[in-house]
Parts: sequence; C-alpha cells; structure tokens
Amino acid sequence: MILSHIVAVSENGVIGKDNKLLWHFTEDLNYFKKRTTGKVMIMGRKTYDSIGKPLPKRFHIVVSRTVVDSLHEQVKYVSSLKEAYALAEKLTLSQNWPDEVMIVGGGQIYRESLADTDFIYLTRIPGKYEGDATYDLNLPKEFGLAFSQFSDAHPGLRYEIWSKAQTIADES
Ligand SMILES: NC(=O)c1ccc[n+]([C@@H]2O[C@H](COP(=O)([O-])OP(=O)(O)OC[C@H]3O[C@@H](n4cnc5c(N)ncnc54)[C@H](OP(=O)(O)O)[C@@H]3O)[C@@H](O)[C@H]2O)c1
Repeated sequence: MILSHIVAVSENGVIGKDNKLLWHFTEDLNYFKKRTTGKVMIMGRKTYDSIGKPLPKRFHIVVSRTVVDSLHEQVKYVSSLKEAYALAEKLTLSQNWPDEVMIVGGGQIYRESLADTDFIYLTRIPGKYEGDATYDLNLPKEFGLAFSQFSDAHPGLRYEIWSKAQTIADES
C-alpha cells in the first residue's frame, strides 16, 4: 500500500478555517477529483463533516474517537489511524481498490500521518490567509520534489508532487 497526502496550502501554511476551505479554484478541485477518484481515502472526522456527504466512486475511511455506523456503504468510521491503515490495506488487497491510498486531511490527520506517507500532492495556493487548520510546509528532508507545474488558469497556483523515493509519480 502506498500512502499519499493530497493538500492545498496557502503561502503561510493555512489550509482551512472554521471547518471550511478558504478559496475556490475549480481547477484544483478537478485535480483533487482526478487524483482521488476510484481510490480509498482516509480523513479526519472534521474534514468528512465539512465535505458533508460521500464523494462518488471513492471509499471514505473516517478517523474519529467516536465511531458511528454510517448510512453509506462507502463510508466507514474507525477509531485510530492504525485502524484506518489496516482497513485500507484490507480494501486494497482484497476488494480491487488500487494500491495508492489518499490521505485527504485535515490538519490533524496530515500531521499524524506524515511520517507514514510516501507521496505528497501539494497544491500551492497564492497568498496568505488567516485560518485555524495548517499544513507544515517545511517538509521532512527525506522528501524530494518529483514534479512541479504552474497552473494554466491561475497565476501563482502551482502543483507539486513530493516523493520520499524521489521517483517521478505516474502522470497518466
Ligand atoms: N486545503 C486542503 O487541502 C484541506 C484538505 C482537507 C481539510 N482541509 C481543512 O482542514 C480543516 C479540518 O482540519 P482539522 O485539523 O480541524 O480536523 P481533521 O484532521 O479533519 O479532523 C480532526 C478529527 O479527527 C479525529 N482524529 C484526529 N486524530 C485522531 C486520532 N489519533 N484518533 C482518533 N481520532 C482522531 C478527531 O475526531 P473526533 O473529534 O470525532 O474524535 C478529530 O477531531 C477544515 O477547515 C477543512 O476545510 C483543508
């Protein structure tokens, strides 16, 4: 199983405020969709609440200290990251989900899972924002920049892929 963060971060490391995103870039939302569709996602309970409903064609593992049964077949609550990894591994091994599992936030879950992560899909959002959820842009030094491309549509917005193995990620 490969674990990847996917995150959009402003210049000062802010990723959200009051359990909401602070910007709206359709291109970046489409990038998120492209990178996550068909895959298993792991997220914190607050991020799941902020999305509000399951996203199509994705399996949602929600980490919370209060485990509840979801009404949705593709949503499962677990009580720790360790359990999230175990369930993700089971899904990728036995139920035809791809090997890459996407960790989609928020701040707490990114921090707690960084040491286990192989790739970081980092969208750099231009500007500084005030917020209460953050992502540390001082990436651990074992990560190397494998890919970097400015957006066509939005000046200053940049897509990067950081890899522990420093290999170029599959762009197909
Ligand atoms: N810019 C981006 O790319 C991006 C992506 C995702 C989210 N966001 C933003 O990030 C913000 C949310 O982030 P956040 O840091 O506040 O919350 P979060 O990481 O989404 O969720 C935190 C919750 O996860 C559960 N949790 C965390 N660690 C746990 C552990 N070790 N064991 C069991 N449960 C654990 C707890 O749920 P319980 O309270 O239920 O116990 C905790 O309250 C929002 O503003 C959202 O819009 C931004």
